Amino acid sequence: MVLELFFYRNILKNYEGGKTMENRENWGSKLGFIMAAAGSAVGLGNIWKFPYTAGSNGGGAFVLIYLVFVILIGFSVMLAEFAVGRKSHLAAVGAYKSVDRRWTFAGVLGVLAALLIMGFYPVVGGWALAYVFKVFTGLLANPDGIPDVFGAFISNPVQPLIWMGIYLLLNVFIVSKGVASGIEAAGKVLMPLLFAILILITIKGLTLPGAMAGVEFLFRPDFSKVTGTVVLSALGQAFFSLSLGMGAMITYGSYLNKSENLVQNAGLVTTMDTAVALLAGLAMFPAMFAFGMEPAAGPGLVFVVVPTLFAKMGGIGMVFSALFFLALTVAALTSSVSLLEVISAYLIDERKVARPKAVAISATVMTVMCIFASLSLGGVGPKLFGTGVFDIFDLLTDKIFLAIGGLMLAIFAGWRMDKEEIKKEVTSDGTVKFALFEFWYALIKYVIPVTIAIVAFTGVKSGFDAGVGGIMVLGLVIIGLLAAFSKKL
Ligand code: TRP
Repeated sequence: MVLELFFYRNILKNYEGGKTMENRENWGSKLGFIMAAAGSAVGLGNIWKFPYTAGSNGGGAFVLIYLVFVILIGFSVMLAEFAVGRKSHLAAVGAYKSVDRRWTFAGVLGVLAALLIMGFYPVVGGWALAYVFKVFTGLLANPDGIPDVFGAFISNPVQPLIWMGIYLLLNVFIVSKGVASGIEAAGKVLMPLLFAILILITIKGLTLPGAMAGVEFLFRPDFSKVTGTVVLSALGQAFFSLSLGMGAMITYGSYLNKSENLVQNAGLVTTMDTAVALLAGLAMFPAMFAFGMEPAAGPGLVFVVVPTLFAKMGGIGMVFSALFFLALTVAALTSSVSLLEVISAYLIDERKVARPKAVAISATVMTVMCIFASLSLGGVGPKLFGTGVFDIFDLLTDKIFLAIGGLMLAIFAGWRMDKEEIKKEVTSDGTVKFALFEFWYALIKYVIPVTIAIVAFTGVKSGFDAGVGGIMVLGLVIIGLLAAFSKKL
């Protein structure tokens, strides 16, 4: 389903940036929309990023703060994005632009965030794809060597680039050829399978001696570990995982039918996405602690824990590992394909580039970015303030652009748009009962902007202690420049 959206867009190219499209297609079924939005949300963010970010930010306290942000900010912002999208019937940039030209930058910021995410996401997607095959070629034969194999693989100057290239080509193929039904069908089988394997891993992990320490690490908060950066990471993780703060959900909302219950849709997508992230955490940490690995091991976490766990199971372990990485690859694909589409759609709608050319331009830029990102993990290539390219893209997006994008959306919905209009949209002209409307509105109008501003400020401040403050400030400068030149965008 995730792709149907895009092909509707494709067919209905009868809109000029800023003008409302008359016969915009709607989602065929309620389930279709939920699956599409959840397919975009559930990806590497949940299974790869969440566990290692929780691990390197001290565990329990991070997880608790993340959950509070998901419930209070994530759900509310998602509902606001759906409402803004359905109200305007336009994708992100157009939705802002149609109300006020000066707000165009907020939409463009989202496009830039999507581009930067696509500067490293395909690198990790390539790792997942590579591991589908690697598990059959001796990876599991020496369980103790699995962490080193991963380290050697990602810092190799050639191998990961090939996999990343294949992964990106798959994206281009899907977006330009319209083989939506294929990947949808794959997703329908592989998403439940991914969930099932995660449960299997959780059970296996929990039965190992010493596993309970992992559960404790994940769920017992130790607030002495909380710094400004930890709180900002939790906020960024919530936005990244829920695909918020960059207008993707505005675009999804723009295809929703007037009769749909936005509140319920936002609630379901948020719940599903968060459940998968928590399950991934629960699958990783007990096993990690049982194996005596460091919880702060970093981006290699899933790529080390899952093969190590299955290595002890013989031939069937190989099959489970391969299925896990295959399902992870497909989960990543359903997300990255929509990111590629966000960028291509901007070029098509706002810059009047033809579709094949738009996809080619986007993919070429991404390839270059990904090559630098991948090489930076081997210590090769340019650095900025001592930080490599992979980390720069990651820092700029989930620590700055998404959070500020969410802040902008909240200010836009709370202050620029009319309260009655928003209310009519959220309650579908009064047909949907939303008892907490006033509470939600107060969150969007006051609490969320203030909270994000404080979290971003303290996060950037403490970022300087971690040596990444310079990059964060650079992110803020870029946003300032976009705002200043908004009329030209
Ligand atoms: N949520 C996706 C994940 O967890 C990543 C993502 C962020 C995304 N923003 C997006 C996907 C926008 C699609 C559209 O992997």
